[in-house]
Amino acid sequence: MSAPERYLITAALPYTNGPVHIGHLAGVYIPADIFARYQKAKGRDAIYICGSDEHGVPITIRARKEGVSPQEIVDKYHALIKKSFEDFGIRFDNYSRTSLPLHHRTAADFFRKLYDKGEFIEKESEQLYDPEAGQFLADRFVKGTCPKCGYTEAYGDQCEKCGTSLSPTELINPVSMISGARPVLRKTKHWYLPLDKHAGWLRKWILEEHKHDWKPNVLGQVKSWLDDGLRPRAVTRDLDWGVPVPVEGAKGKVLYVWFDAPIGYISSTKEWAGRTGKDWRPYWQDENTKLIHFIGKDNIVFHTIIFPAMLKAHGGYILPHNVPANEFLNLEGDKISTSRNWAVWLHEYLEDFPGKQDVLRYVLTANAPETKDNDFTWKDFQARNNNELVGNLGNFVNRVGVLTHKYYDGIIPEPGKLSGQDLEVLERMREFPGRIGDLIEKFRFRDALAEYMNLARMGNKYLADNEPWKKIKTEPGRVKSIMFTANQLVAALGVLGEVFLPFSAQKIRRMWNLPAADWDKVAQTGVLLPAGHQIGKTELLFDKIDDAQIQAQIDKLHRSKAEKSQPAASPLKPEITYDDFQKLDLRIATVTAAEKVPKTDKLLKLTLDTGLGTKTVVSGIAAHYQPDEIIGKQVVWLGNLKPRKLRGILSEGMILMTQDAGGRLVFVGPEEQTDNGATVS
Ligand code: 2FM
Ligand code: ZN
Repeated sequence: MSAPERYLITAALPYTNGPVHIGHLAGVYIPADIFARYQKAKGRDAIYICGSDEHGVPITIRARKEGVSPQEIVDKYHALIKKSFEDFGIRFDNYSRTSLPLHHRTAADFFRKLYDKGEFIEKESEQLYDPEAGQFLADRFVKGTCPKCGYTEAYGDQCEKCGTSLSPTELINPVSMISGARPVLRKTKHWYLPLDKHAGWLRKWILEEHKHDWKPNVLGQVKSWLDDGLRPRAVTRDLDWGVPVPVEGAKGKVLYVWFDAPIGYISSTKEWAGRTGKDWRPYWQDENTKLIHFIGKDNIVFHTIIFPAMLKAHGGYILPHNVPANEFLNLEGDKISTSRNWAVWLHEYLEDFPGKQDVLRYVLTANAPETKDNDFTWKDFQARNNNELVGNLGNFVNRVGVLTHKYYDGIIPEPGKLSGQDLEVLERMREFPGRIGDLIEKFRFRDALAEYMNLARMGNKYLADNEPWKKIKTEPGRVKSIMFTANQLVAALGVLGEVFLPFSAQKIRRMWNLPAADWDKVAQTGVLLPAGHQIGKTELLFDKIDDAQIQAQIDKLHRSKAEKSQPAASPLKPEITYDDFQKLDLRIATVTAAEKVPKTDKLLKLTLDTGLGTKTVVSGIAAHYQPDEIIGKQVVWLGNLKPRKLRGILSEGMILMTQDAGGRLVFVGPEEQTDNGATVS
């Protein structure tokens, strides 16, 4: 017997700077899970590998915002993400993390090998540096205007508006995300992977050898990158969070997160091998292994160009057999966004719909963004649950169970001579595993799931055509054949459903006392349950979801977006001492007169009773207040600020203001009336 086919299936390592949402599940983890479950059900040597991507600037930014260390952030989200995957039946063989020493070693060795082979270019260049924070501004540490489309909120590594990948120095009007400072240019040394050197073989390998088996969206992106011309790409950064660059003269530098993350697939495989007593090498180094990367479309360039170039430069590794990238899932007509809190978080879904993992798995597969962006709506979720899961699959399984108990005390009856229709239904049933399997092999999971549901539909039609409930009195022998046949269909649903709806399929197999799933047995025998087999108690597989539950979800979505849309707190300015603070002389003062400064929209001239005499302050609040609204207000006045002339008026000090939730400037002042001149400290 020849060795079983070997598959190494990977799913993009999620960033650990937040929980996972339905977009992650639909785009990457469910399709990969279906594929892996299928290969295992076929008896193939397949492993499904993933882990947390714990480096990169967004994690550091999150840590700063929350006032904790990056390690605390990744510990928190790693645990949350891992649990969500487990809860939804995403059955990885190994779920690792890139902050582990095993990964640091693996990534550092990989870099070192390329370095020793002379596969990098070492180059000094001018990079953005934040003089206040005292550090270089890599990737998302800097924001500015996109040079391509003019979007003012573009990041240093990418413009999320037009999708262009950028480097920080290309941004117009860059601003530091750490201090808000305007960056300056400073020299620094980095290592670059000369992608241009790899363009020739990449083009031949992907655009010629894989032009028929890779998805058009993937080929399209690859072609556009190659046609644009590949350039050397920096694979190191000046940061303190990541895998330290393992060469002399690289103090304060780490590997670029996109250099170390894909190596995470290798270290996770090593971790799995260590745990199970297997050898990791054949999975990465034997040409007979099929390496399949499941990813979202924003990761295409990294998995088709950069990582393959790294593997080739290293030598001894296989290249991916396929990279089935999905498009994006939208939510209620709008892009899913963590920062705007426009998302359905997996852990929250489970709180609201306990035990309904398969409903979400079903809807996300049936509506997967395989060839274009798709939209998830709660109404569609409800309709698919009520009409398809309850109305079709659940209904068929339940009817067969109930009738088998009612007529035969749950014992599969000995059939009489099977009719033409019985035989035809059993024959057609045997074709389903092959048909569903072919679609899965082609990464057409929506169609594969639709086929699976056709099997249940065929069962319902079979019962409706044969009406055992009418014949039980008059033709009891015939009903035995019908119920024998119908039970075989339920068993097939229990076996084949394992890849799509693992919880429900397992429930079917448990209720029907069926042994573990064997995909090929369905095709071979057609009889999975012999006469005389006792089935267990049956329960409903699915139940209806009502309008109130759906409305609650829609309301929650809009509520959480509104809560989040308040402006994010800006980062703290650099530390000062108490003595610095003591230099400010803050006093309570009362506005005694106010008038608009002529020929300006924004400025009001305020007269203050400061307890130390009358002072004049020019304040930029005219867009928010009418002059007579503020007369008599007590405010906080910074009295010892050096006076300066504004529009010809000498402004003596300034008044403290903040913004309300709607962005209106509001005064900061004492809660109770107090004496003018009272100090604020
Ligand atoms: O886009 C992302 O979420 C990345 N963390 C994916 C990394 S995939 C891999 F290379 F590890
Ligand atoms: Zn842009």
